[in-house]
Amino acid sequence: MSKPTRDMERLFRRGKNDPAFFVENVVGTTTLWHKQIEIANSVRDNFRTAVRSCNGAGKTFISAAIVAWFLTSHVNSIVISTAPTSRQVRELLWQEINTIKANSKYPLGGETTLVQWTLGPKWFALGLSTDDPNRFQGFHAEHILGVIDEAAGVDSPIWEAMDAILTSYGARLLVIGNPTEPSGEFFNAFSSPLYNKIHISAFDTPNFTDFGITEEDIVNNTWQEKITGNFRYPALITPKWVAERRMEWGEDSPAYQARVKGNFPLIGTDTMIPLGWVLRAKERPCVYNDDDDCYMAIDVARYGDDDSVIGIRRGNSLSRKEVFHHADVHTLSKAAKFIADEEHPKWIKVDVVGIGAGVADNLRAWGYPAVDYVAQGRAWNADKFVNRRTESWYLTREKFRKDLINIPPDDVLIGQLTATKYDFDVAGRYRLESKDKVKARGLPSPDHADVVVMLFEAEDAYESFVHSDVPLREDFPKGSVGDMLRILEEGESEEVRWQALRL
Ligand SMILES: Nc1ncnc2c1ncn2[C@@H]1O[C@H](COP(=O)(O)OP(=O)(O)OP(=O)(O)O)[C@@H](O)[C@H]1O
Ligand SMILES: [Mg+2]
Repeated sequence: MSKPTRDMERLFRRGKNDPAFFVENVVGTTTLWHKQIEIANSVRDNFRTAVRSCNGAGKTFISAAIVAWFLTSHVNSIVISTAPTSRQVRELLWQEINTIKANSKYPLGGETTLVQWTLGPKWFALGLSTDDPNRFQGFHAEHILGVIDEAAGVDSPIWEAMDAILTSYGARLLVIGNPTEPSGEFFNAFSSPLYNKIHISAFDTPNFTDFGITEEDIVNNTWQEKITGNFRYPALITPKWVAERRMEWGEDSPAYQARVKGNFPLIGTDTMIPLGWVLRAKERPCVYNDDDDCYMAIDVARYGDDDSVIGIRRGNSLSRKEVFHHADVHTLSKAAKFIADEEHPKWIKVDVVGIGAGVADNLRAWGYPAVDYVAQGRAWNADKFVNRRTESWYLTREKFRKDLINIPPDDVLIGQLTATKYDFDVAGRYRLESKDKVKARGLPSPDHADVVVMLFEAEDAYESFVHSDVPLREDFPKGSVGDMLRILEEGESEEVRWQALRL
């Protein structure tokens, strides 16, 4: 390393007690905005700092800058950082740390690898993944800093392990992230007297404050005219992003609360499909042409008190809905067969949990294009949704938002569509409330709504036909489904019911 100059020494001395000065003058690549300075000063002055913030506020960047400042300002210091996944450790915080070191105006010294920066045998920063809390053991130094990025996704054993190494007087802890999960250690930190707490809303960030853009400007759509120059921090959260999210999510949604306002969403504050959108869908006439594509879906009752529901979609309209109480596999399979014979659907999605699998198998054996729908199965986009059902609801919600669904004035359906709530899991993925939870709130199982969601989420069934070798029927015979349903509904004798099913 080259010999430090007088100038450097002066800068490093001042930067030692002033992290913002360090970033702006020693690293010298950028300036910090005021909440970033507040965070850095808080780490300097407080044992524990907790930051809950909107997306794209510069959390990871300031965490990296604090790591660089803390490490280079304290001889024989140790920094231990972590995040929910090893990819996040490597690609987020440590990429910023490596960039800061590589681009620093004055050399910061030491050697770096992907997740380690070594200045001496007892002087280093290290990124650890959360797979093994044991790896966090045994680090001790007078000046030791722990950093947990995306802290809402890190489980308590890691928090405990992190706490165990922060024993010295000069120890510091920074926990920072998007407040997606209203439970767990990160959530608890904000009601703990041990933490200095910092909150960042999108409306506090420079791309808003520089132009005086407020929440009202987003609501009234006056934000655009206020942007009279370039953004100082083009990579941080922008008014355009917020305006779009507000349209997509609605202001009261957990997503908007967490990702834009930096607030922990209250559990179950929002339903997946806003009532206003469903009411719009009901106002539009349920029209379709006979040659519009037709689709069919079956939600099969799991428990005695639930309905089995068969729905038909033509074009963008829900054209038919049949409900069966206490139907067994055979009854439902036959009913589905008759309806399929009348409607000629392109595919028949069957919720295959429990006895639904039997219905799907029967239909396939009879040559109908039945497709398995596994509600708890993996989502097509598993990074965004915890399961298939959540994803289907989200995709359908988007179609309601864009006025792409017409439904009849069916209050049962409207009630069910707008009752089911959602929140986020620790990884920030959408998570729909289960049917059981809806029922526990005293509401009916949303079986009618699930059929609509299976029908409208997409035009392609995607799932592979399980028995694709079964030839599909060309000649759908016209069955007298109306007669059969009437007989079943009127609760005729077992014998007559069986006759009806053999129609
Ligand atoms: N003070 C700054 N000067 C210049 N660029 C910055 C500054 N702060 C952050 N950035 C850049 O802005 C972008 C977003 O910052 P960062 O990733 O730190 O935000 P975040 O709040 O962690 O985002 P996320 O919510 O996605 O985790 C990055 O490209 C980062 O390098
Ligand atoms: Mg980040």
